[in-house]
Amino acid sequence: MEKIKVGVLFGGQSAEHEVSLVSARSVVAAIDRSRYEISLIGITHQGQWLLAEDQNKALSYKTVDEQSLLPVSLDYTGANRQIRRNQSDVIDEAITDLDIIFPVLHGPHGEDGTVQGLFELANLPYVGCGVAASALAMDKVLAKQAFMSADIPQTDFQAFRVHDWRRSESAIIKKIEARFEYPVFIKPANMGSSVGITKAHDSNELARGIRLAFDYDLKIIIEESAQGYREVECAILGNENPRASVVGEIVPGNEFYDYETKYIDDKSELIIPARISEPAAETVRSLAVKAFQAIDGSGLARVDFFVSQDSQVVYINEVNTMPGFTPISMYPKLWQASGIDYGELIDQLISLGIEKSKQKQLLKVKL
Ligand SMILES: Nc1ncnc2c1ncn2[C@@H]1O[C@H](COP(=O)(O)OP(=O)(O)O)[C@@H](O)[C@H]1O
Ligand SMILES: [Mg+2]
Repeated sequence: MEKIKVGVLFGGQSAEHEVSLVSARSVVAAIDRSRYEISLIGITHQGQWLLAEDQNKALSYKTVDEQSLLPVSLDYTGANRQIRRNQSDVIDEAITDLDIIFPVLHGPHGEDGTVQGLFELANLPYVGCGVAASALAMDKVLAKQAFMSADIPQTDFQAFRVHDWRRSESAIIKKIEARFEYPVFIKPANMGSSVGITKAHDSNELARGIRLAFDYDLKIIIEESAQGYREVECAILGNENPRASVVGEIVPGNEFYDYETKYIDDKSELIIPARISEPAAETVRSLAVKAFQAIDGSGLARVDFFVSQDSQVVYINEVNTMPGFTPISMYPKLWQASGIDYGELIDQLISLGIEKSKQKQLLKVKL
């Protein structure tokens, strides 16, 4: 049987560049080489695409930027699916034909639909959610509107634009204080890794948090806090018939699961299964599938929730369409606990990506 050619994309222009390398290292180590042939393509912080000729070496670095690799581009000008070498101003011979791309990229420009749009232009199958699902999940305001139309419970929220803030800061603060009790969460609409997020306990912190969030996006969201709730996560795998994993729990080391607890100190803890009642876990699982379908997801996602201490209230927090993929990450751990090991998970994700693209090929009218 001919091997399936998989392009693994890693690095990228987000705060999770280094995490992406760890994820990619694990994917590459676990992939079945008797069935798959791999090309490794790193993306620098500036967005340059580089092909790794020495695969072991490429993933041993912390970033893509510090390596001298071969500059390449994805050719989307023809019907071909090729990675081509850039040579000064000429793009010369194709060096890799790919059957599918696995974008092991987290955050903006990785899981927000932008790179997925490029794959669509190139007519190249890829692992995971499509353009709309990725963009919806990344935009916390649009995602919450989608959850609302699907009747998925969540904490109260309100969105603001920088234009309104500049017009009248005091009016915005007043509006927020009339609607919400402290503490409130302030978040840039489009980010990840808890970057730019503040938990504000008074109006000073609120104003500071709003300014910080506007450093990252033109649109921000204010959310009522799920105070004292447990944070739980559920993994989804599938296209038309998505399956939900067992539910896991995060115990953040700090007051909330901020950037530091996620990536710097090692204080947070994962507990599988989550310490919630069986009916609450069932609710989480079915709401996770509902949320995945509400954003029109495909392939995979991790859906995050807050559950009250007595297990009576479940609120959705967000959907992550390219969750952390290192062996100690929640997504693969949840599948491990549900009977799917890491290697098989990668296998299924690639099959689901190919399957989705085959379905599209069957359409009577093609773009
Ligand atoms: N409404 C909320 N109530 C309680 N905690 C929250 C709320 N929103 C966010 N948090 C805390 O902040 C963390 C990061 O927020 P999240 O919306 O998940 O952003 P990111 O997309 O950066 O992961 C969460 O994991 C949780 O610890
Ligand atoms: Mg989160």
